[in-house]
Amino acid sequence: MNILGIESSCDETSAAVLCDGQVCSNVISSQRCHAAFGGVVPELASREHERLIVSITDDAVTEANITKNELDVIAATAGPGLIGAVMVGLCFAQGMAYALGLPFIPVNHIEAHIFSPFINEGAGHHSPDNSFISLTVSGGHTLLSVVAQDLSYEVIGRTLDDAAGEAFDKTGKMLGLPYPAGPVIDKLAEQGDPAFHKFPRALTSQSQTSKSYLNNFDFSFSGLKTSVLTWLQKQTPEFRELHLPDIAASIQWAIVSVLVEKTISAAQSRGIKSVAIAGGVSANSGLRKAMQDACNKNGITLYLPGKIYSTDNAAMIATLAAVKLSRGMKAERCYNVAPYASFAAGAHRKA
Ligand SMILES: Nc1ncnc2c1ncn2[C@@H]1O[C@H](COP(=O)(O)OP(=O)(O)OP(=O)(O)O)[C@@H](O)[C@H]1O
Ligand SMILES: [Mg+2]
Repeated sequence: MNILGIESSCDETSAAVLCDGQVCSNVISSQRCHAAFGGVVPELASREHERLIVSITDDAVTEANITKNELDVIAATAGPGLIGAVMVGLCFAQGMAYALGLPFIPVNHIEAHIFSPFINEGAGHHSPDNSFISLTVSGGHTLLSVVAQDLSYEVIGRTLDDAAGEAFDKTGKMLGLPYPAGPVIDKLAEQGDPAFHKFPRALTSQSQTSKSYLNNFDFSFSGLKTSVLTWLQKQTPEFRELHLPDIAASIQWAIVSVLVEKTISAAQSRGIKSVAIAGGVSANSGLRKAMQDACNKNGITLYLPGKIYSTDNAAMIATLAAVKLSRGMKAERCYNVAPYASFAAGAHRKA
């Protein structure tokens, strides 16, 4: 079965073809037009998607060594994301499905991130045998969920303010780093000392407010942002420049240690032995290493996405469509975009 996936929720225009559960192409164009603004400008993002979507899709089909007539299913992100950006991909994908007479599968972008560690494992082996804990850490979300075998999931923790990716990007901006700062901090941190300065770790065993962390799987990163800002204001430009790698490593460790502690404690409290991490921040080498070490120590199996599948990509959209089809889920007509995650209220969801 050949599934075309299309992703356009934010600033990546991407199309991928999944042939019998294996990724045959995954073309991603990351928009550069936002760099000067220090963040994504929604209207510019929509225009870029419109400009690129036809050629990116053509490239994905050609790279997969098939023609459009050999496609069996088309899937696209239906939300959450920037409404105009999602609409470009969703309308294009539905139009193409209609023109080719193919079934169409709308996909929730965050659910697709959750299953990205299992890309290329084949539709029948999409996840561990039992439930797993998912830590989804992206530019817009920080979620801890328990994912069951029937693909239903329960969100047990979320950020109360900023997402983990946002914490990287905003503190990086304070350091004068380009957007997105997450990968730059990652690189700088390799040469730095994570113990150089201890930034706050809210709602954890290392925070000042004792016991408030117990069985609390929510996150908060806004205090870290303020702490970095006020601490930097007290340092001279020379000191900041000299110790840039140490500061980056200290910020990274403040974020990573919170993510690891919460994830392991969620797995322990639920008696679950599998953890999967996903989203752009799951590309972070400090997080990957610290989570692997903590999982080894606690007898937990860790599933990590390939780095290319951590940030936005269409292979994850096509993969979730394959998983859904393999579970007997039917194609739908979907004419609506959903700019917000429908699970934001924390209800149990069926994928
Ligand atoms: N190596 C890295 N270390 C830390 N952060 C990273 C790394 N690589 C990417 N990121 C961060 O990942 C985020 C982008 O991830 P992703 O593409 O999954 O988010 P998004 O699609 O914008 O948000 P969402 O999926 O919530 O809608 C950015 O905040 C970026 O800084
Ligand atoms: Mg994303």
